[in-house]
Amino acid sequence: MKKFYIATDHAGFEVKDFVVEYLRSKGHEIIDLGPHSSERVDYPDFAKACANAVVSDKGSFGILICGTGIGISIAANKIAGVRAALCHDAYTAGITRNHNDANILCFGSRVVGLGVIESMLDAFSSSEFEGGRHSDRVAKIESCSFGADL
Ligand code: RB5
Repeated sequence: MKKFYIATDHAGFEVKDFVVEYLRSKGHEIIDLGPHSSERVDYPDFAKACANAVVSDKGSFGILICGTGIGISIAANKIAGVRAALCHDAYTAGITRNHNDANILCFGSRVVGLGVIESMLDAFSSSEFEGGRHSDRVAKIESCSFGADL
């Protein structure tokens, strides 16, 4: 069983309770970092809260949801140690654990339906990092700042 932190913006708020209940029903621990109403909020604020929680709590994972999943994933990936993956189906949600050691699953509430969300949560929570040839690549993500070769 895994420990998750979850945060959304107002668009993602619509499916947050569904995700929380689903993961709890599967025996996972999940901590809700908000928002706690449908009032409009800025996704970078909630991305930062979840990203910091995941990095500070070794071995934990995150779920971030906005309308598209794009803004909240871009914001989360600004925090060192975060590998936030924007996923659209069970395949991408599982393989990002296997190959990228993703520690935050991101998706768009306006992009995927509840059935796809369940399948992504199952794939992400049950898949493990494969290590091996992927370890050096993940280490490069963590250690380097990419610059343009001009
Ligand atoms: C909010 O309208 C929307 O811009 C946000 O949820 C997200 O899709 C941004 O990337």
